[in-house]
Amino acid sequence: MNDLVRIEEVVEQGRGITTLRFRFSGGSPGQFVMVWVPGVDEVPMSLSYQGEMAGITVKNVGDATAALSALRPGDRIGVRGPYGKGWTIPKGRTLCVGGGVGMAPLMSALDAINEPSSVDVAIGARDAGEIIFDERAKGLSNDVRISTDDGSRGFKGTVVALAAGMMAEKKYDMVLGCGPEIMLRYLLPACKEAGVRCQVSLERLMKCGSGLCGSCVVDGLRVCVEGPVFFDEQVEGMSEFGRCKRTASGSKTKA
Ligand SMILES: Cc1cc2nc3c(=O)[nH]c(=O)nc-3n(C[C@H](O)[C@H](O)[C@H](O)COP(=O)(O)OP(=O)(O)OC[C@H]3O[C@@H](n4cnc5c(N)ncnc54)[C@H](O)[C@@H]3O)c2cc1C
Ligand code: FES
Repeated sequence: MNDLVRIEEVVEQGRGITTLRFRFSGGSPGQFVMVWVPGVDEVPMSLSYQGEMAGITVKNVGDATAALSALRPGDRIGVRGPYGKGWTIPKGRTLCVGGGVGMAPLMSALDAINEPSSVDVAIGARDAGEIIFDERAKGLSNDVRISTDDGSRGFKGTVVALAAGMMAEKKYDMVLGCGPEIMLRYLLPACKEAGVRCQVSLERLMKCGSGLCGSCVVDGLRVCVEGPVFFDEQVEGMSEFGRCKRTASGSKTKA
């Protein structure tokens, strides 16, 4: 689907983090769309809401995300997709672990699981101002815990440390993780240590979003087609995971 959509609602979710709602149907949890901001750029964004009134949740980090963050109801953006392989929704007990705006694709998973007693949530951010979707998560899970690096809210420490504590306390069948790559790099061994399978959603520079240009390839896997969600054994074998990623010119930079 390739549509010019009208922004219906804008919600300030946290400091520098904005949700835009628009009519766009389709997609499964963890999939993403390519969002075109006229005159600026086209960037990949996870669907934080699915259904007739879809949504994306944008962290302002550069030109395109600043332009998206400045949009108001009535403005228009181009949306194409949905693309990629999303979460494999687990049958057993699940722990969702989100760092910052990484909570966006996890909210779609929580909506799909829709069973508050079978899913717990660990939400982390640098400080209280960047914690997002905690109230929405509480409607979908009986156990939502929060961590901040500076201790301004909830557990003081990383969300991986919080999740490791939850895994020591309770038995889970699957962890779903999304956040900065450094966070995911530590989440994987924490899950391994606890004997819990894990899926993580990766970010790479994307141009076409649909498997054609090769800009998102990691070790022969196109993050836009074979990902963005990968199982633990797939990412463990990736030479670039947690170490480096590619810039628009193709050169390597720290992940
Ligand atoms: C599958 C997928 C889903 C995503 N979902 C979301 C989402 O739900 N919400 C959200 O806010 N962002 C999401 N992103 C990241 C988002 O696409 C980038 O932040 C955006 O492209 C940056 O564009 P810009 O022009 O604002 O910044 P730029 O000027 O391009 O870059 C600003 C800074 O952000 C870094 N950056 C650029 N692109 C990425 C990237 N893909 N990953 C990590 N760092 C990057 C650059 O290195 C630079 O330091 C997702 C990315 C992918 C691949
Ligand atoms: S973005 Fe073009 S192949 Fe993935």
